[in-house]
Amino acid sequence: MRISVPKESAAGERRVALTPEVVERLVRSGLEVAIEPGAGLGSHHSDEQYREAGAKVEAGAGLSGDVVVKVQPPSLDEVGQLREGAVLIGFLQPFTSPELVRALAQARVTALAMEAIPRITRAQAMDALSSQATVAGYQAALIAARELPRFFPMLTTAAGTIRPAKVLVLGAGVAGLQAIATARRLGAIVFGYDVRAAVREQIESLGARFLEIDLGIEDAEAQGGYARPLTEEEQQRQRELLADAIAGMDAVISTAAVPGRRAPLLIIEDAVRRMPAGSVIVDLAAETGGNCELTKAGETVEAHDVKVIGPVNLPSAMPDHASQLYARNIQALLELVTEEGKLALDFEDEIVRSACITRDGEIVHEGVRQAIGAPAT
Ligand code: NAI
Repeated sequence: MRISVPKESAAGERRVALTPEVVERLVRSGLEVAIEPGAGLGSHHSDEQYREAGAKVEAGAGLSGDVVVKVQPPSLDEVGQLREGAVLIGFLQPFTSPELVRALAQARVTALAMEAIPRITRAQAMDALSSQATVAGYQAALIAARELPRFFPMLTTAAGTIRPAKVLVLGAGVAGLQAIATARRLGAIVFGYDVRAAVREQIESLGARFLEIDLGIEDAEAQGGYARPLTEEEQQRQRELLADAIAGMDAVISTAAVPGRRAPLLIIEDAVRRMPAGSVIVDLAAETGGNCELTKAGETVEAHDVKVIGPVNLPSAMPDHASQLYARNIQALLELVTEEGKLALDFEDEIVRSACITRDGEIVHEGVRQAIGAPAT
């Protein structure tokens, strides 16, 4: 059975789906691996390293596999080059990509979306949302530190004492907790906030303070450990109370998300206006609509003497380790769907069933069918 890795074609994408280290393990387990020349260059893996790991590096091989592994969704042109019956694994953004999902079904591709893998204990090693969010959270804290025209740490120098920066992290999921840990290591005074009460302990264990806001509710944790969407009234109150807290911060890193929905709006323009001049907001939710009213995805907006930064695809900005973690996630999934060097997809398995979007010419994922308006089967 052949696994193939194309060179990522999306603009600015520097990650690769398999690293030589993982290729070596796959080859040892009896799988054939083919790599498109140059596929690893963006993350500093040479063709030579892939060859040494036992892969075939061949022009045109990237989409030739029985299993094709990718980072970003394929273009429609790439879908056209997949073999009938091939298995495609990658971030496929199925809930927001109706055209792609239909094309995959039509091409009779078995598509497994990394973002649809359930977050159960058995699937932890395959959780690419978490591995990539870790990279994004770390990067976000570094961007905030770099863009702030002030120090993060407290400094006592002969020229006087510098007070430490105050940093607020909104949303303490995987990315938020990593941003908190990174900002703490840089010496800032860090506050964390989330609507899920369970994260208070996690925030405090990282040496940060939990920001208390009285929304008049105990907890907003829903099924599966995710946040539930707040009511319009709760949101209104949250924005007003947050604006008071944000007014005293040098930097805000926002990561709040509710699965399958637009990111919640947490930072209104009035909050930005009240921040000290020179302050910075890094809005990790930029790609899903932004947590800040002023955010523009992929841009830095300067308003009221505050920089509002809306980065996109932060994991690609640290491609070496992002690829290393992602490749391990893919390896864990491949171990689940192969047996003695052969494909062994068990659609009764919760992980495979949840991740599978298209199969045998059909869109088989109920949630995706609903999201893209495909008729129920
Ligand atoms: P996410 O990216 O969906 O959301 C980020 C954070 O935003 C979450 O902590 C969420 O509670 C928060 N949020 C949503 N609405 C908000 C609002 N209005 N105000 C403030 N904060 C708001 O979350 P992520 O990072 O994907 O993880 C979510 C949950 O999944 C966590 O409980 C995490 O521990 C759990 N998880 C479980 C795993 C497992 O068991 N295998 C693996 C990874 C995560």
